[in-house]
Amino acid sequence: MNESETGCLQLTESGKLRHLLTLRGLRRDFISDLLDRSEHYQHKPGTPPSRDKALDGRTVVNLFFEPSTRTRASFELAAKRMSADVLNLDVNMSSRKKGESILDTIYTLQAMQADVFVVRDASAGIPEFIARNVQPYVSVLNAGEADVSHPTQGLLDLLTIRQHKQNLDGLTVTVIGDLKHSRVARSLGEGLSIMGPNELRLVAPPELAPDMELYPQGVLVDDIDEAINGADVIMTLRIQRERIKGKSSLMTNHEYLQKYGLTEERLSRARPDAIVMHPGPMNRDVEIAGPVADGPQSVITQQVNNGLAIRMAVLAAVFESRQGQ
Ligand code: CP
Repeated sequence: MNESETGCLQLTESGKLRHLLTLRGLRRDFISDLLDRSEHYQHKPGTPPSRDKALDGRTVVNLFFEPSTRTRASFELAAKRMSADVLNLDVNMSSRKKGESILDTIYTLQAMQADVFVVRDASAGIPEFIARNVQPYVSVLNAGEADVSHPTQGLLDLLTIRQHKQNLDGLTVTVIGDLKHSRVARSLGEGLSIMGPNELRLVAPPELAPDMELYPQGVLVDDIDEAINGADVIMTLRIQRERIKGKSSLMTNHEYLQKYGLTEERLSRARPDAIVMHPGPMNRDVEIAGPVADGPQSVITQQVNNGLAIRMAVLAAVFESRQGQ
């Protein structure tokens, strides 16, 4: 799918959000607007969350064909806080296990007046495939597509960075870990290049190095300390063992921490006001030392909190695109 085809599919003729499949091809002001809107859904910890009736009478279906805690829970809460009915299909107990195709599953749920499908799948292209086959009044939100794309994660990461750095250009962002399999890093890289210019430094074990064609504005750095030096933002990534086929010759957890883990000593090379990010789930003392994950520069729980606000803003945007339907 090229950029203009994606743009046609995910935006209406008047440029509103119909589906969210990827950040690629979205305009800078469009992303800024989504981030601004999500601020409306923020609330102080300990205070009751924002609630409205924007999705009253609508039905949001969560279809997660891969495990999830953060994305699935936050889409469910986001939809409920906007008064939607929410269906979490238990895919392991669904008729998919009896051989029903994904499209027949979609058509079945669509016949029950589903308005939005939130889809996570291990195969590339599934959110787009569903988006091409649903009724014109149904939206598809990509909640994690293989190693390709995780657009709401990209948005929540941009929001978190903006909250600390005020803007989203001129930053040095270092991403460390399993870049080969990371849809989170790809969506962040796409978002940063739209909002930028930014310096994107990538660090990975050789066997987990990314295809650099996917990061036209990124630089692969061999030396982790050099990559962290002076960084504004550091994101660490877990090793996605579920995507590594066959017997892995990867190093032990301890060796990994020594070579690629974000330790307090390494973090001290970044700017003093650098923030530490992790999309989760995190493996403490593998890609990130426990004291760094819990330390004053960590914004990991803020990322989770922002995930809810971003998903509310995205749901509001897709329903706005078809007002009157
Ligand atoms: N970051 C993220 O996608 O987390 P989950 O797999 O828990 O949804």
